[in-house]
Amino acid sequence: MHFNGAYRPKDEVRISPDDRGFLLGDGVYEVARTYNGKLFTLDRHLDRLSYSLSQLRIFGIDARALGGVSWELLQRNQLDSQDAIVYLQVTRGAAPRTHGFPKEPVPPTVYGYAAPIVPRFDPAEGVAAITLPDTRWARCDIKSVSLVANCLGNQQAQEAGAFEAIFVRDGVALEGSHTSLFVVIDGEVRTAPLTNYVLPGITRAVVLEICRANGIRTRETPVFAHELARADEVFLAGTTTEVLAVVRLDGRPVGDGRLGAVTRRLGELFYSFHEAH
Ligand code: PDD
Repeated sequence: MHFNGAYRPKDEVRISPDDRGFLLGDGVYEVARTYNGKLFTLDRHLDRLSYSLSQLRIFGIDARALGGVSWELLQRNQLDSQDAIVYLQVTRGAAPRTHGFPKEPVPPTVYGYAAPIVPRFDPAEGVAAITLPDTRWARCDIKSVSLVANCLGNQQAQEAGAFEAIFVRDGVALEGSHTSLFVVIDGEVRTAPLTNYVLPGITRAVVLEICRANGIRTRETPVFAHELARADEVFLAGTTTEVLAVVRLDGRPVGDGRLGAVTRRLGELFYSFHEAH
């Protein structure tokens, strides 16, 4: 793994107990992935990391420089010829615990690793999801490591035999605990607009681009929970999830309970897209 400029085995990494990521969740992260050994949409992930860092006012690290780190991690772990993820995290650094930023600036803590992708679902079958009240903070556009509300939601989904928890705020279905949310209604693909209440998902953006390039109607508009419950199709999108149909929602079948035609087509188009990029 990579830690503050050096590559070393995990058991040799020493993180200070004063690290603000550990004490306060004061940090940001990214998850990028490879297809056939090549990093997919890496620039977009690094741009989003830059955005997250700027929003938390963490300076002294150039997100762009972590592109080279990502490649190096894949190579050092012999992951350059199989599907893998690269995880990158930057925290504000280590300093005695205060809520305000450290009085004397400290260098940010930079951590990264690469690992093979372990699939947790069968895309041909689709998955189940549940809806839950959104208990997260109001800056979900920042990819912050403070993920406890997402963890609680995801755990609740797993305990209900589901893959994902879909967060609903003020009657609007926003996104999953670790995925973007789409519905298909009358042939139109809809997803929440980009606000402070959702992560600007990179797979989300790719899916919208693919739709536009292939004459599939799209709309970035609030999806109400009652629309979600009656949608023809529901699917999730994310770096490790790709395009994944939700076939059961809150214990009831979505549509006829099988993979919908639009989701299936988007899955195929997404495959062609990443093969070509
Ligand atoms: N999760 N929404 C949330 C809350 C997420 O955490 C993620 C990604 C997404 C999808 O974004 P993208 O398409 O850029 O991966 C949407 C990552 C994979 C994770 O936390 O592991």
